[in-house]
Amino acid sequence: MKNKMLFIILTIVFVLIIGFGIHILLNRKENQKEQNKQMNENVINELKQKDNIAKFNFETKSVKLNSGYVMPINGLGTYSLTGDTCYNAVTSALNAGVRLIDTAYMYGNEEEIGRAIRDSKIPRSEIFVITKIYPSQFEKPKEAIELALKKLDIGYIDMMLLHHPGTNDVNAYKEMERYVKSGKIRSLGLSNWYVKELKEFLPQVNIIPALVQNEIHPYYQENDVIPYIQNLGIVVQGWYPFGGRGHTSELLNNEVIVKIANNHNVSAAQVILRWNLQKGVVVIPGSSNPDHIKENTDIYNFELTNEEIKEINALDKNEKYDWY
Ligand SMILES: NC(=O)c1ccc[n+]([C@@H]2O[C@H](COP(=O)([O-])OP(=O)(O)OC[C@H]3O[C@@H](n4cnc5c(N)ncnc54)[C@H](OP(=O)(O)O)[C@@H]3O)[C@@H](O)[C@H]2O)c1
Repeated sequence: MKNKMLFIILTIVFVLIIGFGIHILLNRKENQKEQNKQMNENVINELKQKDNIAKFNFETKSVKLNSGYVMPINGLGTYSLTGDTCYNAVTSALNAGVRLIDTAYMYGNEEEIGRAIRDSKIPRSEIFVITKIYPSQFEKPKEAIELALKKLDIGYIDMMLLHHPGTNDVNAYKEMERYVKSGKIRSLGLSNWYVKELKEFLPQVNIIPALVQNEIHPYYQENDVIPYIQNLGIVVQGWYPFGGRGHTSELLNNEVIVKIANNHNVSAAQVILRWNLQKGVVVIPGSSNPDHIKENTDIYNFELTNEEIKEINALDKNEKYDWY
């Protein structure tokens, strides 16, 4: 009987000790979480306090990034352009005065882009190349970066982005930071990062990204996300300006956009690109058609009125054309 009592008392004491221990651990975790959250908010607030929204220079058609480098505000996107089509598109773009080229490991065209740039004989310093590493590469970022450098073969990469969030993204970014130190990559950025992802990511890295590249077009405008990113001193670049292949006719034939295009005697494509620029969004329309490429660079000789900007803003449907 005595033993039984002792056993019960010991069991109760044991349960109490374990319970107390778990309570302390959970409390500590909760405090840590709270502290991290506060730290994240501090980092974000500190960035916001600086009056650091990068202004586009419409004379030089460029913007100064937070990395100190200058980037053109209109370029050529090369998604789904491969082989000779890609080489010829980049060559046409360079001949038309385009100096910003966007590519990615995923597009499988870095070699053609590098070759077109080398063959152009345009001084390397005048061209700005963005490439991206894919989440499947985040586990071995050094290999991914070396591969991009080798395929492009243009000495250095002007800007490297993480293509979209994924496991090991912070580590991959930190490897890119090491390459910035060595000069082989000049600026860093992110693609498909939104407010929540930025809040979590920024406090964990040392170099604030210079650019965020997200889906932006009149039917998916990100009117809350764009100013948030710009307020952090980060430049915003839009992908799928025309909705991407398969969706361009909806946007290019939109009544409001066509009406505004007629007002200025320009094309609907030019109106969409100009609308982006006036909102402080860098454009990288994709095209393999030399006439379109030329047309897409001719966006500096007209200006949309505030009323016209408002009319296009009103077209937003929150309609995304890709899953990122
Ligand atoms: N970070 C990411 O996750 C991500 C995702 C998607 C895309 N991107 C980047 O964003 C770039 C732009 O997207 P995108 O190329 O897929 O789609 P897009 O630029 O929205 O549309 C390309 C389509 O528009 C047509 N087009 C181009 N200029 C035109 C003009 N002036 N008039 C009429 N049609 C015109 C092209 O046809 P033609 O060839 O006949 O001109 C092509 O079919 C990509 O190339 C890529 O660099 C990034």
